Amino acid sequence: MKIDVLTIFPEFFREVFDFGIIRRAKLANIVEINVYDLRDFSDDKHKRVDDRPFGGGDGMVFKPEPIFAAIENLIGTCERENYPNGTKVVLLSPQGRVFKQEKAKKFAADASHIVLICGRYEGVDERVNDALVTDEISIGDYVLSGGEPAAIVLVDAIVRLLPDALGSETSAENDSFSDGILDCPHYTRPADFLGMKVPDVLLNGNHAEIEKWRKEKALEKTREFRKDLLIKGE
Ligand code: ADE
Repeated sequence: MKIDVLTIFPEFFREVFDFGIIRRAKLANIVEINVYDLRDFSDDKHKRVDDRPFGGGDGMVFKPEPIFAAIENLIGTCERENYPNGTKVVLLSPQGRVFKQEKAKKFAADASHIVLICGRYEGVDERVNDALVTDEISIGDYVLSGGEPAAIVLVDAIVRLLPDALGSETSAENDSFSDGILDCPHYTRPADFLGMKVPDVLLNGNHAEIEKWRKEKALEKTREFRKDLLIKGE
């Protein structure tokens, strides 16, 4: 998979993809991640990428030209219907659909080239959405100063689901949300820490009982914190 990030703050990403699972996936050529400065695609002599909104109002809006130029350069066409199969152009914005594990799985399974456009200021010229974007995505119902943290969230959530990214010792199948509910609690040694004891069931070696306990605890947590996840049928 190839992931291209378009941002006016490339420095923001300098080391963020160089740790843990993402670093390992890069080294194993499971994913290639490139970060591009949107200003490099501006033909304005001051490298401007934003302008005042038509109709007035506060703030600045990303101009369409540098983004169209970037997409032409990275994908080879600005015509969405001519994007090669497996190409996704994602605009990170608070107006998008809220990102869920299901979507991460879809990208990991179906996408081979993802371009992430990090919005800024008051927004991005809507013609970018109309012509180029395949998915407008928000990472939650709050407003960030820009799409950069959201791009990092998407990269992490997607890359760890790519075949072989996690290695043999871990599996995405046991993640929270992988079966639609939260994860169960986990414990390690010592069995008694400051008088706080690990539940007996985890120490008795009965795997059927342990599985049953884990499922019950996962449901308990979900019922307590995320009842909305259970509405589809407990
Ligand atoms: N940009 C600003 N807020 C955002 C959000 N919640 N998700 C994605 N991109 C954003």
